[in-house]
Amino acid sequence: MRSLIDILELSTEEIDELLKTAEDIIANPAKYSEKCKGKKLATLFFEPSTRTRLSFEAAMYELGGNVISMASAASSSASKGESIADTAKVISCYADIMAMRHPKEGAPLVASMNSTIPVINAGDGGHNHPTQTLADLLTIYREKGRLNNLTVGFCGDLKFGRTVHSLIAALSRYTGIKFILISPVELKVPSYIKKDIIVKNGIQYVQTTDLESVMPELDILYMTRVQKERFFNEEDYLRLKDSYILTPEKLSNAKKDLAILHPLPRVNEIAVAIDDDPRACYFKQVYNGKIMRMSLILKLLEEANK
Ligand code: NCD
Repeated sequence: MRSLIDILELSTEEIDELLKTAEDIIANPAKYSEKCKGKKLATLFFEPSTRTRLSFEAAMYELGGNVISMASAASSSASKGESIADTAKVISCYADIMAMRHPKEGAPLVASMNSTIPVINAGDGGHNHPTQTLADLLTIYREKGRLNNLTVGFCGDLKFGRTVHSLIAALSRYTGIKFILISPVELKVPSYIKKDIIVKNGIQYVQTTDLESVMPELDILYMTRVQKERFFNEEDYLRLKDSYILTPEKLSNAKKDLAILHPLPRVNEIAVAIDDDPRACYFKQVYNGKIMRMSLILKLLEEANK
């Protein structure tokens, strides 16, 4: 049974196919409106979420399918002590596909090993978030017309930001990619990402604490929120939370065709004044996320029915 736990489980050819389907969904939505008729998606979110859960649910509805959903982690049997493995077996009897978010790294993987339906990782702790990456890739592709030959700046919490980890992995397979990793020293990209992905793929990269000095080089600026919920002490969070705040002044020496991305929710990292700048792509990214989830649900259900 094919699930999606890590973005690297999709080949670049499969990502191309998902992007093509996404573009076709955008052009011809009616063609897809009954594709999942009679199918059910279960959304299991053991961690707070607005966008991602509603995005999955909207995606399934737009495919003509149905959704069953757990109200919250506190109201689920997990609070009675049920294991992820058992939950996965139970949900397999109710739905055709499930999307799971969990604060523990690896929980969706355990679910996929115990499930008879495809499991989509909707974010596991500080680890991975492959469907956000699909949203990011579609956004980059639609803005730039390519996924290669790009200088991509990641700014903010590169340590705990799971969207950053997944997007770095995905982009590391394209040619002509350069990463500029901008973060406080305490929130640098984990060494396993650097060693096993960036260095292993021979990707050029720079690490810095200074956003403004690298701004002119960037084709993409991926801003992130400092991940409050992953900190062990509040003092550190308070000290680091406003490390980077993107303002119109800071964009004065940026490229005219820079694309500014952010997985959202935004806290303080991007001044609201930037929202009207044509380079701000984060709300388009939300729309693209729903489309890519439609594309992915179609692919996984098609493979499951083979
Ligand atoms: C991200 C996440 O959950 O990791 N949000 C999302 O899915 N759009 C980013 C974040 O919470 O900062």
